[in-house]
Amino acid sequence: MPDELARTLLSEQQIRVRVADMAAEIDADYAGRDLLLIGVLKGAVMLTADLARALEHTNVEMDWTSVSSYGSGSTTSGVVRMLKEPDSDIAGRHVLLVEDTTDSGLTLAWLLENLRARGAASVEICTLLRKPELALVEVAVRYVGFDIPPEFVVGYGLDYAQRYRTLPYIAVLAPHVYATS
Ligand code: PRP
Repeated sequence: MPDELARTLLSEQQIRVRVADMAAEIDADYAGRDLLLIGVLKGAVMLTADLARALEHTNVEMDWTSVSSYGSGSTTSGVVRMLKEPDSDIAGRHVLLVEDTTDSGLTLAWLLENLRARGAASVEICTLLRKPELALVEVAVRYVGFDIPPEFVVGYGLDYAQRYRTLPYIAVLAPHVYATS
């Protein structure tokens, strides 16, 4: 494991099992309905791809959106800007927003409103990670992979300064790394 990482939080196996469980729930919930997965770039790339392949439901489409972050750290303005619109026409669609992590909840709260305003038939959320201790707004998240402590984690899509996204597991970043930068 690289020096900058303190320890593994979730192994590749734990992630695989949980993603398969969530896919089974989603398959059951959306039986008989078409589903549009919208992954939030870049962090949700791994989860969206793995979830899409684990779904046995046949009528699934994948799309992507990208939003600006509202601050570099703990800024709480909640001002989010869409950098990439989904390509699909959302009106009348059953949408499942896919996120890597929910911290304050501000990004998802904003995205939820944005997609509802486009006339989606339904919008639900799937997040791999959630940090309940950092929540500033309450967002109804239907599918949660893991509730975790408020630590800086990387891997499986999550980055530190764009690094470590490609790790197949999730690790805790050593505090000295971000404390000194
Ligand atoms: C992360 C994550 C969510 C958001 C969660 O994105 O992917 O979009 O922060 O934080 P919140 O619940 O406090 O709003 P980031 O800005 O790191 O972009 P990335 O996905 O491209 O790494």
